Amino acid sequence: MKQPFSDEIETNAPSAALQAMADKEKKMVHHSFSSLECEMPVELIQSWVTPVPHFFVRNHLNEPSISPEEWHLTVAGEIEKPTALNLPDLAGMEQHSITAVLECAGNGRAFYQPQTPGSPWGRGAVGNAHFSGPCLRDILLRAGLKTTAMHVMFRGLDQASGQTPFIRSIPIEKALDEDTVVATHMNQAPLTAHHGAPARAIIPGWIGASWCKWLTEIRVIDKEFEGEFMTEAYRVPCQPIPPGTSATAGNTCALTELSTKSIIAGPAHGATVKTGAVRIHGAAWTSDAEITGVDISTDGGATWSTAELESERARYAWRLWNYTWKAPEPGDYIVMSRATDSRGCRQPQAATWNPGGYLYNAIDQIEIHVRTQAEGAPRREL
Ligand code: MTE
Repeated sequence: MKQPFSDEIETNAPSAALQAMADKEKKMVHHSFSSLECEMPVELIQSWVTPVPHFFVRNHLNEPSISPEEWHLTVAGEIEKPTALNLPDLAGMEQHSITAVLECAGNGRAFYQPQTPGSPWGRGAVGNAHFSGPCLRDILLRAGLKTTAMHVMFRGLDQASGQTPFIRSIPIEKALDEDTVVATHMNQAPLTAHHGAPARAIIPGWIGASWCKWLTEIRVIDKEFEGEFMTEAYRVPCQPIPPGTSATAGNTCALTELSTKSIIAGPAHGATVKTGAVRIHGAAWTSDAEITGVDISTDGGATWSTAELESERARYAWRLWNYTWKAPEPGDYIVMSRATDSRGCRQPQAATWNPGGYLYNAIDQIEIHVRTQAEGAPRREL
């Protein structure tokens, strides 16, 4: 079975600073150091909230840094009162906290066949965290929306000459959602540089590309933004196409919501366990709906049993789950997990192949080896 990552950190000519960071954040799997891209080995999922050092990072360009005192956020476009806000201004507004899943649209790309271009993310370009800051809605309403306000565009500070800036927009309805936030904090601490300090957009239920980091400008516009990261990237064919083919021009749709998905965090793929009780556990998430069930198969999908959902839950958060399997006899087993949400969306047998390798959500599966208690016992030294 193909598992695209190992515990080792790839060294793609990293700078000393980045290497130091990789050592500190040991166990993260690096896909790129030139623009930082690293994922969490899913075996690290041990708690509902993902600790910041284990949270995946996806930068398209160089990571910017600015002192909090110098920083300000421009609010402009189809509004009555163009304005600039600094950190004390944001802190003085009513604060909204949410716990939400952040998943890269390319998470799982490595599993698509035929393979697609782009970083070969395994299963760990995802995490669940607390985010807090003012609601975007309050910022927009305070600025006074004109009737021409249709989309809200975010610009990050990570701009460099000769490189296409990472700019995307979201529809005004999503921008005005009560849970769309301009976050200054993650897991109760100020945002770190990797995750967008001093402020980033939180667009819960939507792909990570919508969650602009290092915000410097919010611009209200009268139509969807037409930059490369909207018109070329993060799009899929509106109708499924045969794997390995291209979508015809004009026949693609922008990605918005995450799909229904579960992953097995433990045992690790390839692990050896002993006969008897084996704890199988993981996480499941969807977009704006509730995870209602996770089914587990230990016989390659022939039969399914219900996992127990843990109690911690929130509108856009992931749900942890557990299943105790009585491993009957030695052998090699395929273990699978399959999530279902309150809209009836169920994780499919196969994900819908697309040229960008986005939104992979096929039933998760690992292989484990069961050995007898005696086989598994440590050898005694004579
Ligand atoms: N915002 C800016 N300004 N630049 C970026 O490269 N990457 C996006 C998004 N926001 C990006 C960005 C993508 S593709 C993802 S998946 C998420 O940030 C990742 O957020 P994280 O690095 O905090 O996990």
